[in-house]
Amino acid sequence: MPPSPTPVILDVDTGVDDALALLLAATSPHLNLIAVTCVHGNVTLDQVVPNTLNVLHHAGRTDVPVAAGLDRPLVEPPRHARGVHGDNGIGGLELPTATRTPEDTHAVEYLRRTILDAQQPITLVPLAPLTNIATLLTEHPEVKANIERIVFMGGAIGTGNASASAEFNVRQDPEAADIVVQAGIPTTMYGLDVFHQVAVTRPQAEALVATNRPAAELAGRLLLAQMQNYGRDSTLIGDAGALASVIEPNALTTSPHPVRVELDGAWTRGQTVVDQRPHATADREEPWQPPMNTTIHVATHVDHARYQQLFLETVTN
Ligand code: RIB
Ligand code: CA
Repeated sequence: MPPSPTPVILDVDTGVDDALALLLAATSPHLNLIAVTCVHGNVTLDQVVPNTLNVLHHAGRTDVPVAAGLDRPLVEPPRHARGVHGDNGIGGLELPTATRTPEDTHAVEYLRRTILDAQQPITLVPLAPLTNIATLLTEHPEVKANIERIVFMGGAIGTGNASASAEFNVRQDPEAADIVVQAGIPTTMYGLDVFHQVAVTRPQAEALVATNRPAAELAGRLLLAQMQNYGRDSTLIGDAGALASVIEPNALTTSPHPVRVELDGAWTRGQTVVDQRPHATADREEPWQPPMNTTIHVATHVDHARYQQLFLETVTN
């Protein structure tokens, strides 16, 4: 008897790679896509919402509720990433406009209600700045009891992308990210260290377009748009890799480490500080700083070939 599909809620800032994750969620038989919540990030919230609705419409998943959340970070002034995702957030592609509108309910309230009412604990998959999720956990901590785990795309053990030390989702809202990693919910950090390893090639993207299957064709066009944007013959599946790790966790290697987010450093604000020291060493001396008290599962290695294949096969089917 195959396991029942995993109930998931995606929190997105659609964005090209968020769109790839939406297409994977929309087509995977191993996921039950309960809802999608939108937040500021790659582009403004009022672009993220229609992008998300249009991608789900294109994939034939107008059954999936979409709710709009916060349009700016908790503290940080809002910024975007149009150089990466295009002015419209989806690589300049023009999609048929969805006929439906988002839920009337704010995403944080929608998350609260949906999680508390769920018959089976929900897996939260934030692929964006963590503003919605941090607000939910702060204002409605009672939801923690019905969250199976959080698998978020964000942070890095090593080099950042938004800055030398910070990854974009975390740098966009460091306060929110620090709230989430301290929340005490089983959490997996899918950071840049693995995010940068899962790619597809031009022939693979062209083959997706040629299938003429809506989700595959759109995924192919999004991937080709990114290759065009960067002048390359391959591109990352980005956020879709984080979701692939929910479908097939065994292809991702994680290690439990204390993690906090730097909030004050002039050169390091938004850095995910991952304490990889052997425990014994850490205990030998008088501590230089307070204990982190937050151990989460940090992704260290990924079977990138497996996630590439999983993505291509799933969106095609
Ligand atoms: O740093 C990469 C992350 O920032 C991805 O989620 C991308 O969509 C942007 O949100
Ligand atoms: Ca994203």
